[in-house]
Amino acid sequence: MEITYYGHSCLRIETEGKNLLVDPFLTGNPKAAEIDPNSISADYIILTHAHFDHISDAEQIAKRSGALIICNHEMAMHYQSKGFECHEMNFGGSKEFDFGKLKMVYSTHSSSFPDNSYGGNPAGFVLSSGGKTIYLAGDTALTMDMKLIPMFFKLDLAVLPIGGNFTMDIDEAVVAAEFVECDKILGIHYDTMPIIEIDHETAKKKFTEKGKELILLNSGESIEV
Ligand code: NI
Ligand code: MN
Repeated sequence: MEITYYGHSCLRIETEGKNLLVDPFLTGNPKAAEIDPNSISADYIILTHAHFDHISDAEQIAKRSGALIICNHEMAMHYQSKGFECHEMNFGGSKEFDFGKLKMVYSTHSSSFPDNSYGGNPAGFVLSSGGKTIYLAGDTALTMDMKLIPMFFKLDLAVLPIGGNFTMDIDEAVVAAEFVECDKILGIHYDTMPIIEIDHETAKKKFTEKGKELILLNSGESIEV
């Protein structure tokens, strides 16, 4: 599984010959200024919730590449009414796709479209593919429900928001990593705007002190899991 970071919460996951795009926010994302949205295509677009900074390029990329949008019920209704192909999921549900298995898990946040219409509940996902398992937390606060994840999954990577203000911060993300029992963390949802700026060295040190590794990628950089 190869994971490429496009800044904020946007990831491309290449696995089992498929391209998965998570929370596409390229247009209007200062951390993705060098990424041309027209150069991005996907077989699947996974949306954690309906906030602008997670969906801004979803329609354009889905239209161009014919991607299937995977999201909650309310978002699926929204996109289907606009002619998009969707697969809806809800909390606790798992589905086997041709790229692997996806489970929708709890996140504690909110979800509305840019026009303020209801975007259902925000979610996280656990992706099992190619012999690896990763947790995509989405936008979330620290929550006890994270403790359920290691009862069912042995994670190879946890993708956690760390920027604070809209989500949990670094100190809480360290505890989240302990809750999900994962030693390798990819940080997201930081540095996009001044209010969520973090000190990289301090953040990495806080994870190192707990025997964990925090990976912070530049936009366009990839890691192999
Ligand atoms: Ni959000
Ligand atoms: Mn967000």
